[in-house]
Amino acid sequence: MANARVLVSDPLAEEGLAILRAAVDVDVKTELREDELCSILGDYDALLVRSSTEVTAKVIEAGKRLKFIGRAGVGVDNIDVEAATRKGIIVANAPEGNTLAATEHTMAMMQALARNIPQANASLKKKEWKRSKFMGVELNEKTLGIVGFGRIGREVAKRANAMDMKCVAYDPFITKERAAQLGVEMMSMADLFKVADVITVHTPLIAETKHVINAKSIATMKDGVRIINCARGGIIDEKALYDAIKSGKVAGAALDVFETEPPLESPLLTLDQVIVTPHLGASTVEAQLNVAVSVAKQCIEVLKGGSAKYVVNAPMVPPEHAEILEPYAQLAEKMGRFAIQTAGGRLASVELIYGGELSAYAGSMKFVTRLALKGLLDPILQQPVNIVNAEYIAKERGISISETVTEEAKGFKNLITLKVKTDKGEETVSGTVFFKGRSRIVAVGGYTMDMIPEGYVIVSRHLDKPGVIGRASTILGKVNINIAGMQVGRINPGEEAIMVLNVDSEVPAAVMEEIRSMPGIFTATFAKISSELI
Ligand code: NAD
Ligand code: MLT
Repeated sequence: MANARVLVSDPLAEEGLAILRAAVDVDVKTELREDELCSILGDYDALLVRSSTEVTAKVIEAGKRLKFIGRAGVGVDNIDVEAATRKGIIVANAPEGNTLAATEHTMAMMQALARNIPQANASLKKKEWKRSKFMGVELNEKTLGIVGFGRIGREVAKRANAMDMKCVAYDPFITKERAAQLGVEMMSMADLFKVADVITVHTPLIAETKHVINAKSIATMKDGVRIINCARGGIIDEKALYDAIKSGKVAGAALDVFETEPPLESPLLTLDQVIVTPHLGASTVEAQLNVAVSVAKQCIEVLKGGSAKYVVNAPMVPPEHAEILEPYAQLAEKMGRFAIQTAGGRLASVELIYGGELSAYAGSMKFVTRLALKGLLDPILQQPVNIVNAEYIAKERGISISETVTEEAKGFKNLITLKVKTDKGEETVSGTVFFKGRSRIVAVGGYTMDMIPEGYVIVSRHLDKPGVIGRASTILGKVNINIAGMQVGRINPGEEAIMVLNVDSEVPAAVMEEIRSMPGIFTATFAKISSELI
C-alpha cells in the first residue's frame, strides 16, 4: 500500500477523509467533467464517489491503476459496474449507512403529502391564510403499499405500523414469513396496487423495476391514491404520473428522485399536488458520516490487499458464512493453482464438488468457486485475476464451470474436489480443512495422500519399481534442492504410482527435464502453490 493514492471526486464527510489521510495520499477534486477525470485518474489506486460522478466505462479505462471504486451511498447506478468487473476492480458501496435517513425522509414526505404541509407553508409565507384549501387526509388505518421490502422498505413498515397504518408489501426476494414477523402482508404487485391508499417504492432501478408505476398500473390503483418515490428516478413513469394527477386519478405525489436530476424542465414541478425535494433522502449529518467512514475503511482494506465488506461485484455471502468459508476459499485457490500446473494446457472445463458440512452453505459456495477459478487462471494469464473478474474471464475464454453440493464427503467432515480438463489432459484434486483452518490435499488423480498445500511441489507419475524415488532424490540433491516432504501412492504394486515432493526452492526446467527422462517416469510436473511464488 506504500504510495497508494486515492481520488475523492464528490464531497465526502470529513470523518471519512481523516481515515483515508491517516493511511494514504488523498486528493479531493469535485465537479470534474468526464475528460478531466479521465486525464488524472491514471495516477490513482482508488476512486471514491457519491452520486454526482458518473463512473463510465471510459473513466474506468483511464484508471490504469485502479483497484477500488467506493460509492458513499447505496445506489451504484452511476458506476459502470460491468466495466469495472471486466478489469477486476472492486466496486463497493455503503448500503446501511443511510437507511434510516432515507426511511425518515420517506415518512416525512408521506406526512407532508397527506397534510399539504409544503403548499400551506408556501401559502402562509405569501401572507395568505387559506385554511380550507389545505384540507388533508389522515394516515391512520390507511393501507400503505411498499414496493421493495429491503432495508428501507422494512424500516418504513415499522414506523407506519406504529402510526396504525396497515402495511402490505411486494418483493420477489422476501418470504411471507419474514414480512409477517414485521406485521406486514406480502402480496403480488397487482394486488398491492389495488388495495393501497399510499404507495411507496423502495427498489433499486433495474430493468425489472423501470416504470413499474406507469399508465397501465396506475389505472388499476384506487382512485385518489398517493404515490411516494424516495428510491430512484425512473421507477415511476413521470409522464404517466403527471397525466394521472391532472385527471384526478392520483391525488398527489411526493418525489425525492427524478428521471433526470435536477428535474428543472419536469412538468411535475408545476403541479400543486406534487411535493418535491432535491434528492435529500440520505442528506443527514449522521448518514453522510456513516457512508463516508464505511467506504473509507473498505478502501483502505482493499489497498492493504484485503477485501471490502460490501462488494457489489463479487458473490454475496452473508457475513457469518464469509468467516467460516474463508479457509475453504484459500484451499480452493491453492488447489486450483496446483491442478492447472500439473494438468498443463488450455483450460476447457472446471468442476467443483463441495461435500460434507459444506452442504450447509450451498448458497454461498460461489464465493469459494470464484477463488478456485482465480487459482486456476492466475498462473496462466498475464492480466490480474481476482474474485471480481475470475468468473467473467473464465466465461470469456469459453471455460465451462459447474458446481455441485453434496452431503457425501468420503469419510472426511468436509471435502472439496476439483476436476479440471485441459486440451492436454485432466487432473482431479481433493482437499479438506481440518481444525483451526489447517488444510490438506488428500487426493490427487485418485491417489490418496496427506499433502500440505504450500510452497513448491513436484508431481510425478511413474512405474512402481525400486529405485525411481531414490534417483529423483539424487537429481535434486545434486543441485542442492532440499525435499521437505514426500508422498507416494499406488493402486496396485508394480503398476503406475504417484509421487508428490514438497521442495524448498524452485526447480529449474533442466532439472525437471532430467527427472522426466529417468527410466520408469511417465510424467513429472513442477508447481508453485503459494500465490506469492507465481
Ligand atoms: P435494499 O437492497 O436493501 O432493498 C431493495 C429491495 O428491492 C430488496 O429487498 C430487493 O429484493 C427488492 N427488489 C429487487 N427487485 C425488485 C422488484 N423487481 N420488485 C420489487 N422489489 C424488488 O436497498 P435499500 O437500502 O432499501 O434502498 C432502496 C432504494 O432506495 C435504492 O434504490 C437506493 O438507491 C435508494 N436510496 C435512495 C436514497 C435517497 O437519497 N433518496 C437514499 C438511500 C437509498
Ligand atoms: C443512495 O443511493 O445512497 C442515495 O441515493 C443517496 C446518495 O445519492 O448519496
